[in-house]
Amino acid sequence: MHIAVLSETVTDTRVAITPETVRKYGALGGKVHIEGGAGDRAGISDQDFQDAGANMVPDAFSAVKDADIVLAVGRPNEAVIRACKPGAAIFATMDPHRANGALDVFASAGVNAFAMELMPRITRAQSMDVLSSQANLAGYRAVIDATAEFSRLLPMMMTAAGTIPAAQVFVMGAGVAGLQAIATARRLGGVVTATDVRPATKEQVASLGAKFVAVEDDEFKAAESSGGYAKEMSREYQAKQAELIADHIVRQDIVITTALIPGRPAPRLVTQDMVDAMRPGSVLVDLAVDSGGNVEGSRSGEVVTTSRGVKIIGNSTISKVGTTASNLYARNLYSFVSTLIDRDKIALSIDWDDELVRSTNLTRDGIIVHPTFKGEKPN
Ligand code: NAI
Repeated sequence: MHIAVLSETVTDTRVAITPETVRKYGALGGKVHIEGGAGDRAGISDQDFQDAGANMVPDAFSAVKDADIVLAVGRPNEAVIRACKPGAAIFATMDPHRANGALDVFASAGVNAFAMELMPRITRAQSMDVLSSQANLAGYRAVIDATAEFSRLLPMMMTAAGTIPAAQVFVMGAGVAGLQAIATARRLGGVVTATDVRPATKEQVASLGAKFVAVEDDEFKAAESSGGYAKEMSREYQAKQAELIADHIVRQDIVITTALIPGRPAPRLVTQDMVDAMRPGSVLVDLAVDSGGNVEGSRSGEVVTTSRGVKIIGNSTISKVGTTASNLYARNLYSFVSTLIDRDKIALSIDWDDELVRSTNLTRDGIIVHPTFKGEKPN
């Protein structure tokens, strides 16, 4: 059983395997082949991998050539997918809603692609939940990045030279990232408020010691999908929400936005007018910047300073915590992949009817099999 691990693109510091999981795959009989340098930016050297029993290979093509299992963080590029042997299983975060034909490539290459971010949020799959493991870290890092750009402090301090007021922190979207942002901002001494469109979050926000701020009408009371995700809200709701936020945001020092709707562009929650109404020196962090952005004017990979001196951080990425993110992601992957291996035969043995497999499997035997993406035809 040959397992290949790929290097990520230059903007991603993570790696899909760690020495810990190399050993675990080895214990299952796997032979791990890792692209040289794949762990460098996550603080894992080739030597660390070799000490754990992996072989280092010069490039992605040599890694995948004979692989039965391919592990990556992001979706591999077309040339690498086409270099895989037919029947190989590829596990990564595939961003399938924005795959632009990549699912056709998987299908026509005859590989079985699995999108880790489609893992259902059920108890059995908690240890495989890459969205949660990474969003949690992103929420933490967003607060650290905001405080680094903020020229004041978060906690209230009473000093001989006078009292410093606590900073007001507003977290928009109280899912996994938002809840961690609330907890982190509270630990640093900020006064925290938060908003979401899902009613279940009200209690979660309160349990972290933050105040919940939202338009709580009938639509709000029904705003959670069966999968536990947010629905796209009506125009009327959005207008009421915008009014409430406009009123609240002018008094905020730090705003962290994390609002996402699976398969849809991120909702635009903070307009240019709202940004302009904030005090100079205020900081916004848009964690949804790569999904279209919650904040008007945010730019991916950049910190934008407006003419009124407000900073909009669009570069608070998971890559800034690449070592921890890799550790958790690699464990998530191992938790899933190890359930698909027959330990006696030392080979992949996938139960295609299993809920976790059906939810994540995009392509199989030359066709797109996932119900959400099935309409797309292979080349
Ligand atoms: P997400 O990353 O898809 O979205 C982030 C947050 O933005 C969500 O709380 C969402 O409701 C909110 N949002 C969307 N549109 C908004 C708007 N217009 N205004 C304000 N907020 C808006 O969500 P995430 O973090 O992936 O969590 C989704 C759900 O999954 C939650 O219910 C969470 O508790 C649940 N979950 C369940 C797990 C399990 O049972 N194993 C594990 C992790 C999460």
